[in-house]
Amino acid sequence: MHNDFLREHDIAFTGNFDGDVVSAEGISITTSEGKLYRNYNEITSMLGQNHKVFIERMTAAMQRGIYTPVRGYEAGKVALFQKLLRLTQGDFQKIFLSASGSEAIEWAVRIARNYTGRNEVVAFSGSLHGRTYMAACLSGISRRKFGLGVQAPGILHVEYPSCHHCYLNLESATCQMACLKDMTRKLSYQASEVPAAIVIEPFTGSTGMAVLPNGYLKALRAWADERGVLLIFDEIQTAFGKTGDMFMYQREGAIPDLLVLGKALGNGFHIAALMAQAKTLANLDGTILAGGTGSNPIAVEAANAVIDILETEQWLAHVKRIEAIMKPALERWCRDYLIVDNYRGFGVVYGIAFADRRSDSGGVFGKPLAAAEVVSRAKTQGLLLGRSGNVLFFRPAICVTKEEAQLFIDVVAHIIEEMSNCF
Ligand SMILES: Cc1ncc(COP(=O)(O)O)c(C=O)c1O
Repeated sequence: MHNDFLREHDIAFTGNFDGDVVSAEGISITTSEGKLYRNYNEITSMLGQNHKVFIERMTAAMQRGIYTPVRGYEAGKVALFQKLLRLTQGDFQKIFLSASGSEAIEWAVRIARNYTGRNEVVAFSGSLHGRTYMAACLSGISRRKFGLGVQAPGILHVEYPSCHHCYLNLESATCQMACLKDMTRKLSYQASEVPAAIVIEPFTGSTGMAVLPNGYLKALRAWADERGVLLIFDEIQTAFGKTGDMFMYQREGAIPDLLVLGKALGNGFHIAALMAQAKTLANLDGTILAGGTGSNPIAVEAANAVIDILETEQWLAHVKRIEAIMKPALERWCRDYLIVDNYRGFGVVYGIAFADRRSDSGGVFGKPLAAAEVVSRAKTQGLLLGRSGNVLFFRPAICVTKEEAQLFIDVVAHIIEEMSNCF
């Protein structure tokens, strides 16, 4: 069994359950030890395991046997461009396909620097923009910067604002978005020039699912326009229907100059897309944007299949149905359980924050965080959950059924009740 091999050879990282995966369907995986796990922590393979139409489409793409050179076109690539332009309703005119989200983020920053002729870029605490050098430097998580040594110059970090946990300790009803003014104040002494760009995730996918204040992205758009700063939205975790909308920028009514898409786009295959307003590339030799495998026809077909399946199988309507189950249950938890502080999220993505007062000595300082305890107890009942700090995630593939959403609610509620007695 693979796990024996891994244990014996002490390979750098191991999986989070025993046994090998031998079969999979939807959000379920079965291991060689006959154990069934339901995976509620999936951010890449968004259609779920073993999606029949997706597999048929990928098989057919392999059988066509076409491999276009990087600068070549085939029908699939053109079809994908058409779909992305249609879904973004004319907001962008240029598209570049790359093999990873990190790569696309780096291109976005390079384009912004070239367009503005300026160097500095603003990014946010708690953000994750990738693991390549500049993308890791842009990220606001020290763990992601491991081993970088000297960080890339010209990156300024400010606090990611969120009303669930206002870092200024203000009330949203009366604060008049003081966080935006605070950012301006910080930049007034940190920045050496007007920044070239601001890079932001519409919610922080990997650090506690923090959501921005209502209207923040619109206000940021106006802020950037006043100063000639480009806006880059990293929608690698937030796009393609998981929130109930195709894109968060559309939900928020704020159009970025550069939009970065990835992960769900390929349903696990290596494809990301950088969508740009034409002006940003006006003074750039387009052939500079290049890469080895980003527009490989197999990865392109994965993206085409994802978009077609989302639309023909009406997954966005399904996501809204899951939301109608999740939100009332999570609201109830916040009311009924002292150890649950708040929840945030939409569609099939939620962060459930456990109250600090019950676990304020958690993590490396001693007492385990409540969220970690839930993850470990749920695993014994066959539920694979994720967390960041003291925030538990519900973020399964989009195909999660109503029954599976209810199972999460029932199992986790029971665990929380048990824990409420001892935390
Ligand atoms: C929000 C966000 N941006 C960028 C990336 C980097 O994408 P990739 O892993 O495809 O390089 C990630 C990956 O986790 C992400 O979650």
